Amino acid sequence: MKKSSFSLKNKISYILGGSGLIGRTVCLEFAKAGSVVCLIDKETSSSLKLLEELKKINSKCSFFQLDCSDFEQLEENFNDLLKSFSVPHIFVNCSYPRTKDWANNSFKDVTLESYRKNIDIHLNSYSWTAKMVADEMIKDSIKGSIILTSSIYGSKAQDLSMYKDTNIDENMTYPIIKSGIIHLSKQMASYYGNFGIRINTVSPGGLEGPIAGKSSTQDAIFKKRYINKTPMKRMTRPDDVAHAMIFLASEASSYITGNDIKVDGGISVV
Ligand SMILES: NC(=O)c1ccc[n+]([C@@H]2O[C@H](COP(=O)([O-])OP(=O)(O)OC[C@H]3O[C@@H](n4cnc5c(N)ncnc54)[C@H](O)[C@@H]3O)[C@@H](O)[C@H]2O)c1
Repeated sequence: MKKSSFSLKNKISYILGGSGLIGRTVCLEFAKAGSVVCLIDKETSSSLKLLEELKKINSKCSFFQLDCSDFEQLEENFNDLLKSFSVPHIFVNCSYPRTKDWANNSFKDVTLESYRKNIDIHLNSYSWTAKMVADEMIKDSIKGSIILTSSIYGSKAQDLSMYKDTNIDENMTYPIIKSGIIHLSKQMASYYGNFGIRINTVSPGGLEGPIAGKSSTQDAIFKKRYINKTPMKRMTRPDDVAHAMIFLASEASSYITGNDIKVDGGISVV
């Protein structure tokens, strides 16, 4: 029987940030779709626990510890990764590099130092790792798929009425990073298309869970407002994101590049 166009059977996937809220489900769903997953993350203990689960699905799955914001070592570490495993068919970046004071990046509280550092470690690590993988794909004649995680706030501004009297602030730096990632993928699609390499972004809406940079989760008022505003009347789930990524990773999307898929229950259209 011909395999499904959505299958990832025998495809090697690098999943950077694979241990996080979204990344963990991406790893598991990719492995279930047949992919050999190389989970890449700076965190070791949560990654090794996830690796045990992944190995039950596909014993060839592996883990590589990498801090993608360590620019001094990035190229050397990435070369070690490429030497340890084959050049991937699929590269997903769902990492979330951020400073300890990330939650203070509102217009009111942000410092120039934090603003610059967060753009550097997030936007520049996304850009450089995607370029390194694409260049390796060319050397190995791999017509691969690169999927970068943006956000609805990469193409729309944050609605301030959502945050009023809640435990979450708007963030000056985040939309700059995330719009940069969307435009990076368009520019990469233009350059690497000739080599058969596709680059797309997935832009999730808000997921229920921890607030990035804080130890708390979103409070009830915020969630209620967000859900009320969302046409599909719920927040984004990690598997919503993973399924869009499987589509972009698979042959089913072989003529799609430079696109951004919003996985947001429609909130960005209202
Ligand atoms: N959670 C949301 O509501 C939401 C919504 C839209 C977009 N996003 C985007 O999705 C992506 C994943 O978000 P998440 O909520 O899963 O984040 P998360 O914090 O739960 O997970 C991020 C993962 O990245 C890893 N990581 C962080 N810095 C790293 C570094 N320097 N090197 C290697 N790994 C590193 C962490 O260890 C973690 O496993 C982010 O890019 C985020 O901006 C999240």
